[in-house]
Amino acid sequence: MHTQIILLLLSLALSIAAFSPADHYLIDSGTAASTVVDLDHRKFTGDGSSSTLSSTKSLALKESNPDPNLSPIYHTARVFTKPSDYKFKINQKGSILVRLHFYNFDFKNIGTTCHDQFHVSANGYVLLHNFSVPKRNPRIKDFVILVDDEELVIRFIPVDKTSFAFVNAIEVISAPNDLFPIEYVSSDHNTKHAYETVYRISVGGVKVTPFNDSLWRNWVPDDEFLKLDDGSMKSVRKLHFDGRINYQLGGASREVGPDNMYNSARLISSLNESIPRVNLTWVFPVNKGFSYLVRLHFCDIASISIGMIFFNVYLNGNLVYENLDLSSLTRYMLASPFYADFVVDPEKFTDAIRVDIGPSKMSMPRSVDGILNGVEIWKMSNTMGSLDGEVCVGQLESKNQSGGQMSRLLSLTAAVCLLAIAFLVMRRKTEAKNSAGWSRVPADVSEIDLKSSYPKSAVVNV
Ligand SMILES: *[C@@H]1O[C@H](CO)[C@@H](O)[C@H](O)[C@H]1NC(C)=O
Ligand SMILES: *[C@@H]1O[C@H](CO)[C@@H](O)[C@H](O)[C@H]1NC(C)=O
Ligand SMILES: *[C@@H]1O[C@H](CO)[C@@H](O)[C@H](O)[C@H]1NC(C)=O
Ligand SMILES: *[C@@H]1O[C@H](CO)[C@@H](O)[C@H](O)[C@H]1NC(C)=O
Ligand SMILES: *[C@@H]1O[C@H](CO)[C@@H](O)[C@H](O)[C@H]1NC(C)=O
Repeated sequence: MHTQIILLLLSLALSIAAFSPADHYLIDSGTAASTVVDLDHRKFTGDGSSSTLSSTKSLALKESNPDPNLSPIYHTARVFTKPSDYKFKINQKGSILVRLHFYNFDFKNIGTTCHDQFHVSANGYVLLHNFSVPKRNPRIKDFVILVDDEELVIRFIPVDKTSFAFVNAIEVISAPNDLFPIEYVSSDHNTKHAYETVYRISVGGVKVTPFNDSLWRNWVPDDEFLKLDDGSMKSVRKLHFDGRINYQLGGASREVGPDNMYNSARLISSLNESIPRVNLTWVFPVNKGFSYLVRLHFCDIASISIGMIFFNVYLNGNLVYENLDLSSLTRYMLASPFYADFVVDPEKFTDAIRVDIGPSKMSMPRSVDGILNGVEIWKMSNTMGSLDGEVCVGQLESKNQSGGQMSRLLSLTAAVCLLAIAFLVMRRKTEAKNSAGWSRVPADVSEIDLKSSYPKSAVVNV
């Protein structure tokens, strides 16, 4: 009796230990005041009173008639007519989450410039190229950047003399160690990558907001990506689970995925002796010319007992996981989360990533024959270090922004850039012949127990 109570308390203590990032900057641009976001109680420091901003030509703008339904971080903006930096001191090198918030509240002409069109770079990576934001339409751009310097420099660069750059708020947060194991970051030909989140989906669920996520992320429902045909209607359904999600040490943590994502799912189930011959299918449009990291989140919130759930997982029509045995992968505990990562190169397929879940030959009648709780898809920077176009950082500032001495330096970087382009093209050519469409990377490189049953990183020819 006593031991049971102690164990329960221990596990509660473990699960409520909140994540506290080593580096954590929340900046509200275009104001000197601090702003508290009502919905998630976070306090953003005004860039006017923060030492992070270094800019010679910038302007603080405030909306005169702000929309009360919109987060207060969108009520002010900082506008740049010359390249300008935010510099963040980094105490813990490694993966850093960077979120940029944009809301163009109908800026009037600013000096001689009339429209927003700009580039954003960070520590050698191109994050946004030739970017502009439709008016009155908030946008969040979410990145993961490997920082191995003592400083993270986010630079906003107007495209030319007739345009300006702007930003409303910036979040810079150290990623927990288990979120993005370093191996991914340097897996591909020793190239270090930056990542941009392109999809973060809670399957079968409702929107999960930063308030309910320990890394302040948004997860959106999957409805618009789901492809259902009439034949599969009877055997697939949505599920919401009211019980507790059993996070285990060594498994997916709450920072990998929040309770509110894992507690909903879509599933395939058989109610009688025949196993349905159907797939659950999602299609995510992506840009060609980039590789993507796909993370699939599974949590068996549907089975009534362990050891009864087996299914297949396909990416772009390739079987990437046969007879996924969710019970053994979660050490025979129900409602315990697990995730698997895959690198996909859709260049060789179409401009979409397709995920299928379907029964396998080990699937059992009268049980769950497939489940999916969440999907994340990150775009990986290309060999030029860009997440947006075939351009490298050195090329961004070459257009009429700086003169004299700088231009010699720039033409040098431009030459390096050309080499990179050539390399990229050559790599594409050779790759097209002999490389595979996808590869699997271990889900959790730091843990022995879960990994022992886990297939190692593999490249399969398709
Ligand atoms: C930048 O965007 C404009 C339109 O928004 C387009 O005309 C131009 O070609 C783009 N430039 C590059 C280098 O992509
Ligand atoms: C957080 O999640 C709970 C349900 O788990 C929901 O009732 C609540 O509205 C959510 N809060 C926000 C701010 O999204
Ligand atoms: C099992 O159920 C499905 C749909 O619920 C039905 O289409 C099928 O005919 C049933 N099979 C048997 C053997 O009863
Ligand atoms: C499920 O999807 C895979 C991959 O696209 C395909 O090979 C398989 O035939 C599909 N199964 C059914 C029953 O549609
Ligand atoms: C760049 O500057 C040159 C001359 O200084 C001018 O002719 C050209 O139009 C400018 N280009 C842009 C894009 O502003």
